[in-house]
Amino acid sequence: MPAEGVDLKPRNHLLTYEEIVRISEMFASLGVTKIRLTGGEPLIRKDIELLSARLAGLPGIESLAITTNGLLLARKLRGLKLAGVDTFNISLDTLKRDRFKEITRRDELDTVLDSIQLAIDAGYDPVKINAVIIRGFNDDELVDFVEMTRNMPVEIRFIEYMPFDGNAWSDTKFLPYTDMLSTIQKDYPSFERLADGPHETSKTWHIPGFRGRIGFITSMSEHFCSGCNRIRITADGQFKVCLFGAMEINLRDMMRAGASDEELQAAIKGAISRKKASHDGMYEIAKSDNRPMILIGG
Ligand SMILES: C[S@@+](CC[C@H](N)C(=O)[O-])C[C@H]1O[C@@H](n2cnc3c(N)ncnc32)[C@H](O)[C@@H]1O
Repeated sequence: MPAEGVDLKPRNHLLTYEEIVRISEMFASLGVTKIRLTGGEPLIRKDIELLSARLAGLPGIESLAITTNGLLLARKLRGLKLAGVDTFNISLDTLKRDRFKEITRRDELDTVLDSIQLAIDAGYDPVKINAVIIRGFNDDELVDFVEMTRNMPVEIRFIEYMPFDGNAWSDTKFLPYTDMLSTIQKDYPSFERLADGPHETSKTWHIPGFRGRIGFITSMSEHFCSGCNRIRITADGQFKVCLFGAMEINLRDMMRAGASDEELQAAIKGAISRKKASHDGMYEIAKSDNRPMILIGG
């Protein structure tokens, strides 16, 4: 959370419920099988249960996931499970109370830890935990996170710190995958890689005998662009074919100007066909203009 807070967008800039459903139907008809709701913070939407049920029920949609900060999950979990949400990713970058407060500007570490436990108790297996690792800030906690996988059905996803507008990224704060691996291997020599699917964005590892597992999102040091089939729609209706690319197609304005499904589909296919083979590497990304992560969602 930036120190200066965030400016909320006027409501009419954001996609309406009907526009979100229309876009989702269109992507499903084009072959998309999985939707993830992220943010901002998706659980602050008053109609999140209703929207989730509508999206999970669309023909062709096989999986509905949510990425959340976990603060409101206790209140919403039952309704979201009933609505058909099948995966939760809960963001948690530290297990230390003071650090948590520094990152999120809230003293609610326990709320998030309770949410993780509630999701486990509700049968989610694994509950995914997103931890962005920053050198000199929380890299001393790698082993503490790994310890969580001993008895809990969690997948800790260590995410390499990525440059976005306004996040004060520098290469001195960047900790590559291989360095994280060596730190973990010192304490757990049996740490081993598991097989991943062709479109998996994370590299999965585990410690034999432990209940949970570890994933690494190595977008910076070993990009996975060739297998990446993720596309993103921002809350204000911009279609992005790459997390790190500034190119956006304004589906909101097209819809509001009366575009037909065929015209929208043609714009989407055109943008996908112009997707680059890979991103430009972390130094180029750090120099380029893009949205801040809080306006993309992950
Ligand atoms: C932007 S949040 C949005 C959803 C929700 N509010 C949350 O807190 O999970 C989605 C994910 O992006 C990750 N993220 C944010 N900034 C990042 C960065 N600079 N590098 C890598 N991941 C980042 C967060 O850790 C989080 O798991």
